[in-house]
Amino acid sequence: MQYTRLGKSGLKVSRICLGTMTYGDPGWRDWVLNEEQSRPFIQRALEAGINFFDTADMYSLGKSEEVVGRALKDFARREDVVIATKVYQPMSAGVNDRGLSRKHIMEAVHASLKRLGTDYIDLYQIHRYDPETPLEETLSALHDLVKLGMVRYIGASSTYAYQLAKSLYLADLKGWTRFVSMQNHYNLVYREEEREMIPLCIEEGIGVIPWSPLARGFLTGNRKGGEAQSTRAKSDAFAHSLYGSEADYQIAERVSEVAERLGVSASQVAIAWMLSRPGITAPIVGASKMPHLEQAIAALDVQLSAEDIASLQEPYQPRAVAGI
Ligand SMILES: NC(=O)c1ccc[n+]([C@@H]2O[C@H](COP(=O)([O-])OP(=O)(O)OC[C@H]3O[C@@H](n4cnc5c(N)ncnc54)[C@H](OP(=O)(O)O)[C@@H]3O)[C@@H](O)[C@H]2O)c1
Repeated sequence: MQYTRLGKSGLKVSRICLGTMTYGDPGWRDWVLNEEQSRPFIQRALEAGINFFDTADMYSLGKSEEVVGRALKDFARREDVVIATKVYQPMSAGVNDRGLSRKHIMEAVHASLKRLGTDYIDLYQIHRYDPETPLEETLSALHDLVKLGMVRYIGASSTYAYQLAKSLYLADLKGWTRFVSMQNHYNLVYREEEREMIPLCIEEGIGVIPWSPLARGFLTGNRKGGEAQSTRAKSDAFAHSLYGSEADYQIAERVSEVAERLGVSASQVAIAWMLSRPGITAPIVGASKMPHLEQAIAALDVQLSAEDIASLQEPYQPRAVAGI
C-alpha cells in the first residue's frame, strides 16, 4: 500500500480509501450488502494496508456506521485506522434532524460516535453546504468538536469552490479549525472540478478524496442496457441521473480499450487515471464484490502513458455541474 498526507495535515492515509455506502442495510437501497456480507471487505481492505474508511450518518440511516465501527473494532487497532464520516443529510423527517446548525451538528456527532463505537472521529465532514445556516455557526460548532476531542480533523464534501474558499477564509480570520479535505464528485466522465475546485485545493493544501471514481460503476463498461446487469446498475437512480450521454459512453469505451491493451481491468485504468491527476490524495472506491476491491488495490501498480491519458480524456465534453 502507498500512503500520503491528507492535504497539508499530518494525517497519513492510504492512497485508496474504502467507501462504505455499499455496506449496511439492503432495506435502504437494494444494492446495499448486509453486515455479514460487508465485513469481509473491511477485513480484506485492512489486510491490504488500507487504513482509510469513509462512511456517513445517512448511509443506511446509521447502519453503515454501525457495521463499519464493529468491523474495525474486531479487525484493527483504533490508532491504526482513519475513520471518516459525515453530517448534513436528513436523518428523519424532523426539521432539525438535518443540516449544519449547531444543534444538529452536536446531536449528530454524538449519534455517529455511538454507532461507530468510538470516542473520536478522525475526519468529520460536512456532506454538503447548508445555505440555511450561517457559515460562522457551522464552522464554530465544528471547531468546538475538535477542541472537545470528539473530532480530530474536519473536511467538506461537494461544495462550490467559492463556498470552500469562504470557509477557509473565515476559519483563518477567526482562528478556527480549517477543513483539511474536499470529498468531491470527480471521475473521467465528470471533470468540472478541474476548473476551480482542484486548483483551489492544491493552492490551499486541501486533500482531494473524490467520491464515485468509477462513476458509480459506469466506467467499468458494464452499464449498457441489455447486458447482464448488477442490481446497482439497474436500480441506482442517482447514477442514471448523472451519467449516460454519448460522450460518457465514448469515454467508457476508451477506458475498456486502454484496459485491454494493458491487460488490466477497466476499473484499474479509471482509478490509475485518477491517481495520476494533480492534487488527488485518494479516490474513495466502492466494492460490492471482492474482485472490485482487489482491482482497486491493484490500480496502484498501473502506470498510464501520456498517450493513454490523452486517449482517455479526449472525448470529454464540458457539462453542467452535477452532484453538489
Ligand atoms: N460525499 C458524497 O456525496 C458521496 C456520494 C457518493 C459516494 N460517496 C462515497 O464514495 C464511495 C464510493 O462511491 P461509489 O460506490 O459510487 O464508487 P464507485 O467506485 O464509482 O462505484 C462502485 C461500483 O462500481 C462497480 N465496480 C467497482 N469495481 C468494479 C470492478 N472492478 N468491476 C466491475 N464493476 C466494479 C460496482 O458496481 P456493482 O455493485 O453494480 O457491481 C460498485 O458498486 C461511497 O461508498 C461513499 O463512501 C460519497
